[in-house]
Amino acid sequence: MHPHRSRTRPALLAGALALATVAAVGLGFTRPGPADAATTLKALADAKGRDIGVAIDPNRLNESAYRQLADAEFNLVVAENAMKWDATEPNRRQFTFTQGDAVASYAAAGGKRLYGHTLVWHSQLPGWVSGLSATELRQAMLDHIAGVAGHYRGKVVAWDVVNEAFADGGSGGRRDSVFQQRLGDGWIEEAFRAARAADPAAKLCINDYSTDGVNAKSTAIYNLVRDFKARGVPIDCVGFQAHLIVGQVPGDLQSNLQRFADLGVDVRITELDIRMPTPPSAANLATQAADYRKVVTACLAVTRCAGVTTWGITDRYSWIPDVFPGQGAALIWDENYAPKPAYQAVAEALGGGVTPTPTTPTPTPSTPPPGDGCTVTYVPNTWNTGFTAEVRVRNDGATAVNGWTVGFTFGAGQRITNAWNATVTQSGSQVSARNASWNGTVPAGGTLSFGFQGTHGGSNPTPTGFTLNGSTCRTG
Ligand code: G3I
Repeated sequence: MHPHRSRTRPALLAGALALATVAAVGLGFTRPGPADAATTLKALADAKGRDIGVAIDPNRLNESAYRQLADAEFNLVVAENAMKWDATEPNRRQFTFTQGDAVASYAAAGGKRLYGHTLVWHSQLPGWVSGLSATELRQAMLDHIAGVAGHYRGKVVAWDVVNEAFADGGSGGRRDSVFQQRLGDGWIEEAFRAARAADPAAKLCINDYSTDGVNAKSTAIYNLVRDFKARGVPIDCVGFQAHLIVGQVPGDLQSNLQRFADLGVDVRITELDIRMPTPPSAANLATQAADYRKVVTACLAVTRCAGVTTWGITDRYSWIPDVFPGQGAALIWDENYAPKPAYQAVAEALGGGVTPTPTTPTPTPSTPPPGDGCTVTYVPNTWNTGFTAEVRVRNDGATAVNGWTVGFTFGAGQRITNAWNATVTQSGSQVSARNASWNGTVPAGGTLSFGFQGTHGGSNPTPTGFTLNGSTCRTG
């Protein structure tokens, strides 16, 4: 298990908590109570001595909400793509570490552990590799491992040395990759030995998908690990990607992790996401939360489970819609960075308590005469120099609104830094929030809602002059 290393960033922690809190109130959940005032997934995982990891794209770190959540919520990072073969050695013996180093520097600067993904994989392999003869390919593989693992020597806690080497479909055999075809069964062992030589301190893992439960594929890896341990071939850990489908967490996940741990290796959930048809239904979001809870709980129940890594931060950026059209919504923050029920479930699984009563009562607007305008409820959450707010606008008109713009005016120089569930623009004190693609219709009597985060100079009064599509709203 890794040592407890935590770094306190009060403003960021408060910001992340506030993001969580606003959405929790909006969705009618309970919210963290006073005892959990500094709760983040990172703080909870640190307290348990486990990793809570995230796959990142270093090019997104200049996006404020992305950066803020990466900073505050995770104690381990892995490059989603930046350390793969095509990124690090696009041409033979020409190594480029710019993107990978950006991830490594980010981890080091924030006191986060760095996980290496991945040294040898049949995918994202530059074209020159597959044209090589067996002799050349073996040398290229060994050179690549020495070059990349050597470059990050001492910086990563672990490497996915070999990724996705086993076949789908229940055969329990190897994947028919270029490495398997040209080098035969011994290539995995050769890769692990080379990785140990390149970075003796890094834990060396084999990583795969659809191995989360006991099945032919996971058993094939189990047999390989057992063989390596018996023969003294270096191997320290097994990664279970856990690219799951909503409602389909294997019931034997924990016992599967445990059988590997009993071989004397660490285990970890390496690429967790749980996809569903999009747009997501409330029922699927609730099931997804239960699923995330099951995965985290299973890991925690296994002493040698180092932790859980999610394959991204936000539904805004995920590999899933590209590969599975019509599916997505697989992560724990939605596409507007609002925490989903799954976020709360992960926090609770990690030991974060909730109190049954919201600490900020939800104002109850007076009922207006039917067929008349709009009513605004503004729910701020303010700290030293920052705040979040949820804006709810009820359509009190007799007909549906199709497409909306909500306007209002700040009175104390507040500035919005990011928003969710609307596109928000600010000009001086004037703010204009336009509906997202999926929430433009508000039936008669229905309520729209969006949220944002901002800064203030010490005073954060409620804005005034709320309008819905130009018509003045009353304040509830
Ligand atoms: O970098 C190019 C860019 O220059 C180009 O304009 C663009 C056009 O499509 O493509 C960009 O490359 C994409 C790359 O991600 C970086 O964004 C590739 O097309 C795209 O295929 C690639 O997808 C990655 C995928 O691995 C490749 O197999 C995903 O981001 C990444 O999340 C995914 O991660 C894998 C793990 O490594 C292993 N386990 C499964 C997991 C999900 O597939």
